[in-house]
Amino acid sequence: MKKILLYFFVIIAVIQLYRPKKNQHSVTSENHISTVVEVPNTIQLILDRSCNDCHSNNTNYEWYHTIAPFSWGVAMHVNKGKEHLNFDEWAAYNSNQLNHVLEGFSETIETREMPLVGYLKFHPEAVISDDDNQKLLDWIATLDSK
Ligand code: HEC
Repeated sequence: MKKILLYFFVIIAVIQLYRPKKNQHSVTSENHISTVVEVPNTIQLILDRSCNDCHSNNTNYEWYHTIAPFSWGVAMHVNKGKEHLNFDEWAAYNSNQLNHVLEGFSETIETREMPLVGYLKFHPEAVISDDDNQKLLDWIATLDSK
């Protein structure tokens, strides 16, 4: 039993050696969506609270997010999320990319597919109220393709 515990701690210690790069940038992105689209304050607050951990160039990390294997899971979600949609790179999207983002955007909000359920368990503040959900949908409807 003692040996198993020892192995467990050794494995935990060894996996800490692989640290994914943090998604944090000190400068404000010049390609942020607000440079090309009007983003009302109320919307920006919703995006900050519920989306930007995975869809921007800046994730707010909790202390346990830096511990493997959690850090790997977080990095995977952030990378995948940013691949699909990054509000900090919006202005740099070509027409194909933009159309692709816009295609899934309202449906994702309408069906409440986002924020991811697993994320909401740890971030109850990110739950989107019915009122905010409607505000988001109304705003998304104003976004044009290129
Ligand atoms: C915990 C991380 C996380 C949060 C928070 C999050 N997303 Fe996502 N999002 C993802 C991931 C991961 C994917 C890719 C999903 C996949 O591969 O199935 C994604 C995909 C998407 C897509 C593309 C869907 C498609 O079908 O093309 C949209 C649009 C989106 N998210 C919008 C949002 C919005 C808006 C919010 C906030 C209300 C949000 N997400 C919050 C991780 C997140």
